[in-house]
Amino acid sequence: MTRAAFFIFAFFASIIITLAAPVPVENGELVELDRRLTRQGRGTWFYPGLGNCGWTNNSNDLILAIGKQLYDRNNAGNCGQYVQITNTANGKTAYGKTVDSCQSCGDNDIDMSPALFSKIAALSTGQLTVQWHFMNRAWQP
Ligand SMILES: *[C@@H]1O[C@H](CO)[C@@H](O)[C@H](O)[C@H]1NC(C)=O
Repeated sequence: MTRAAFFIFAFFASIIITLAAPVPVENGELVELDRRLTRQGRGTWFYPGLGNCGWTNNSNDLILAIGKQLYDRNNAGNCGQYVQITNTANGKTAYGKTVDSCQSCGDNDIDMSPALFSKIAALSTGQLTVQWHFMNRAWQP
């Protein structure tokens, strides 16, 4: 290949690669990639009811609320998406479904149902440091 031919080839190849790349949305939370972003923040628990996603859940359901700003930025697109949660203090891990937003939570914090929180710590602990990430959207426990 001549130099000019190579540059023309490289130019079009780079355009094709750019077009073929998947378009991630908001830190990859809406793309179908697992473990793209692991967050570390505060884990608390609450009594569920009618959540922002429009579903009514109770204390026995393995559900959680994510930070309101994160929820809104993703246009409620995380509704129904599973999250893997690890209690950093004891390494216990559980899975919960996103069904609500949490006003007092930052982007890295989650608020869990009593059943979900109980899987990784005693409710009396009240507040935990958790590491968590969204699962692939199609993932089910
Ligand atoms: C939450 O409630 C909805 C219906 O209100 C139900 O379909 C869903 O299974 C519940 N989620 C969990 C994780 O139990």
